[in-house]
Amino acid sequence: MRTPTLFTTAIGTLALAASVGAHAQASGPIKVGLMLPATGTFAALGVAIENGFKLYVQEQGGKLAGRDIQYFKVDDESDPSKGTDNVNKLIKRDNVDVIVGTVHSGVALAMAKAAKDSNTLLIVPNAGAGDITGPMCGPNIVRSSFSNWQPGYATGVIAAQKGHKRAMTITWNYAAGNETVKGFTEAFEKGGGKVMKDLNLPFPGVEFQALLTEIAAQKPDVVFAFFAGGGAVKFVKDYAAAGLMKTVPLMGSGFLTDGTLEAQGEAAQGLITALHYADNLDTPRNNAFRKNYAIAYKANADVYAVQGYDAAQIFAAGLNAVKGDLAKRDALTAAMRKVTVDSPRGKFTLSAAGNPVQDMYIREAKGKDNEFRGVAVKALADPGRGCKL
Ligand code: PHB
Repeated sequence: MRTPTLFTTAIGTLALAASVGAHAQASGPIKVGLMLPATGTFAALGVAIENGFKLYVQEQGGKLAGRDIQYFKVDDESDPSKGTDNVNKLIKRDNVDVIVGTVHSGVALAMAKAAKDSNTLLIVPNAGAGDITGPMCGPNIVRSSFSNWQPGYATGVIAAQKGHKRAMTITWNYAAGNETVKGFTEAFEKGGGKVMKDLNLPFPGVEFQALLTEIAAQKPDVVFAFFAGGGAVKFVKDYAAAGLMKTVPLMGSGFLTDGTLEAQGEAAQGLITALHYADNLDTPRNNAFRKNYAIAYKANADVYAVQGYDAAQIFAAGLNAVKGDLAKRDALTAAMRKVTVDSPRGKFTLSAAGNPVQDMYIREAKGKDNEFRGVAVKALADPGRGCKL
């Protein structure tokens, strides 16, 4: 056998460096880019996601696969028009190894395009835009949260089961609102109901009065709403103040009451929603998670915290498979995609398109918690329309 000369070794090193690309470094800290809203109607959601991600890393001793983690942060302001510039700060300026973000579907679509163009790893810890795990799917993109269709569909199932026949929907007019309403309509009409009218207003508007007047005039059997964060707080309070809670039952995907119950107070009590998490899931995994979260952040965990935590778990699964060697990109992404995540929400896997296949729960708002009331749909998978891998 020939011993390698200095020359062949050097060539080998060069070839390796080229195949790794600009991002991957074999040692030193792993650079994690957090692109989340720190301002605006979704600000609290961004905080919970970041907290959740960091909690998991802390639980691993502050390292993943034995490597330190260095964070780079961008406030995306939930503004799609700034999405490309903002994500490029992480990709081009900070040269991060992975991007975790974001909350808003419109911003996340810009991020997914930039991630695809630059082959940067992207883990989406909230935004449900169907295209991300549909036509834009790719080996380097996974989601730890949901597709917009999933909670909408699950709420449609339970609204029909309750015997409601005539529904109106109300949401912000952007990808998340429209796709969630589509999922609701699909299941509700399959279950024998009919959506009479879709109402909407521009994101992140909170001028609900004229729309509430229309609901009062039309008197549907049920209203389905998608709002989240600060907008959800205002909507639920306004709906109650208009005297509609008693006359027209309000349902929503669970974001309507998640992370918002303290601010909504009385107005939200008793609201029934569907989502892939419930606060009081009585499992050792969820109990430990909620306890550790409360100790670390002096706040109650919510669905956004879970999604951030699980984003870190998915990334860790990839890193552990390659012992922290980011250069082994194909093995890393393959391991991320075939993980079974031991989530506080319950165990879940990822679809071929990289979206969680997960149980959707019925919840009721009680005090400061969204309490488990049953399973709306078991192991619900987004259809992943248009994903070719
Ligand atoms: C979204 O824009 O995809 C979105 C935002 C907030 C949520 C859920 C989905 O709570």
